[in-house]
Amino acid sequence: MATNPLAPAWLRLPADANVLADGLWPATAARTPQGELLIGGCTAAALAAEFGTPLYLIDETDARARAASLRAAFETEFARIGTSVHIYYAGKAFLSTEIARWMLAEGLNIDICSGGELAVALAAGSPPNRIGYHGNNKSLAEIDEACRVGVGTIVIDSPVEIGRVAAAAARHGIVQAVRLRVNSGVHAHTHEFLATAHEDQKFGVTLDDAPALVGRIRAEPSLAFRGLHCHIGSQIFGADGFAESASRLLAVHAALLDGGPVPELNLGGGFGIAYTSADTPTPIGELAASLADIVAAECGTRGIPVPVVAFEPGRYIIGPAGITLYEVGTTKAVDVAGNPRLYVSVDGGMSDNARPALYGADYTVRLAGRVSAAEPVLVRLAGKHCESGDIVVDADYLPADVSPGDLVAVAATGAYCWSLSNNYNFLGRPAVVAVAEGTPRMLVRGETIADLLARDTGVGAGSTTAGSTTADSTADLPKEPSR
Ligand SMILES: Cc1ncc(COP(=O)(O)O)c(C=O)c1O
Repeated sequence: MATNPLAPAWLRLPADANVLADGLWPATAARTPQGELLIGGCTAAALAAEFGTPLYLIDETDARARAASLRAAFETEFARIGTSVHIYYAGKAFLSTEIARWMLAEGLNIDICSGGELAVALAAGSPPNRIGYHGNNKSLAEIDEACRVGVGTIVIDSPVEIGRVAAAAARHGIVQAVRLRVNSGVHAHTHEFLATAHEDQKFGVTLDDAPALVGRIRAEPSLAFRGLHCHIGSQIFGADGFAESASRLLAVHAALLDGGPVPELNLGGGFGIAYTSADTPTPIGELAASLADIVAAECGTRGIPVPVVAFEPGRYIIGPAGITLYEVGTTKAVDVAGNPRLYVSVDGGMSDNARPALYGADYTVRLAGRVSAAEPVLVRLAGKHCESGDIVVDADYLPADVSPGDLVAVAATGAYCWSLSNNYNFLGRPAVVAVAEGTPRMLVRGETIADLLARDTGVGAGSTTAGSTTADSTADLPKEPSR
């Protein structure tokens, strides 16, 4: 069969549309002899039967191994250049108490950017001093709470925050360690980066303004300046963008040493992963080695000591460890100028994975309940929302006999899917289940119709129509699976 001209240029026609390509699926993903998808030793069908679909699954072994191996790689490479690293797990990618515990147990700290994320990290039992808090508009109450509980570091994002954090720290009688977020002017995404001199974005202060602002921070007795912080983007392949950014940051870092100690440098997160077979992220060990070489060279050129270096990866750790299971509800073949495309609609969509609609993100889909020898056909995996842009996988190949009732799995949905999930069209957010060694464990239960109605103050009040629809009356609705 020839490649379908409707397929994007990067998508190859697979010889076998059942294959779980290396690097795309969680480490424990495999097929049983009968062809079912197996993850963490559990079959997709058993998980769907127990928890319903859509369902987020996290391969615990893989998530923890990715955290541990990333930390080991960075520790080794930065020890080679005579310094140490702090690795923060970027909770925005996917945060629950259990996942925070895994990360802490693997020796990572937790990076948060809101009072809600702080509450989750604390509920997980995180020592406050292992929490780093950034964000461009932390409220006064959030800053106060962060200082009250004693978070390790706060990233100051704008001039006005210097006084706010200083006042909160003084109120609580502490000296708060802070970083200053700067804009290096480098924006990186996948293979390319853009370096500009001027900034037009909401995060951080310019490198030009940094020395005066650090002077202000140092003048506050309740603040202790730790170093500069920068994040140049996400889903980055290769080290070139980091090299340019680190070079710009270390020039300012070196100048700041004239005014006092600058023990740290935080280079942010953004390490890329594979969402499709066309993605070729840099292996983490190579990236760690390149970043260490860059920092060593830049410090060497300037004759300054190598600082402790901090990183904040999220997607790299949790993204590939997660998949989403869906059930196919309908299929529809269309003909586009003589070329076939099969729409396969599933029971979730942009409410559980907003990334395709938000960023045009690509994903990979495979049959999860069986394999099939039918020839591969070009499919578009659509959601069930009332929105034509509600697409989960814009283009991939599935066996031509994919049918209603089939289970399908979408790879690499561990990062920024559950955390961006929403209730569009009043769909409840799916459950999150961790799987390991043949045992599933619910991390977050799914939302029910009763959950969705519970906050509507009009339910049960006033008119006869409204009165007939109480939260309790949802017991009469068809039972949702335990999602
Ligand atoms: C400041 C900061 N740090 C870390 C991250 C994590 O990025 P990633 O999940 O791509 O590693 C982000 C994500 O946008 C961020 O804004």
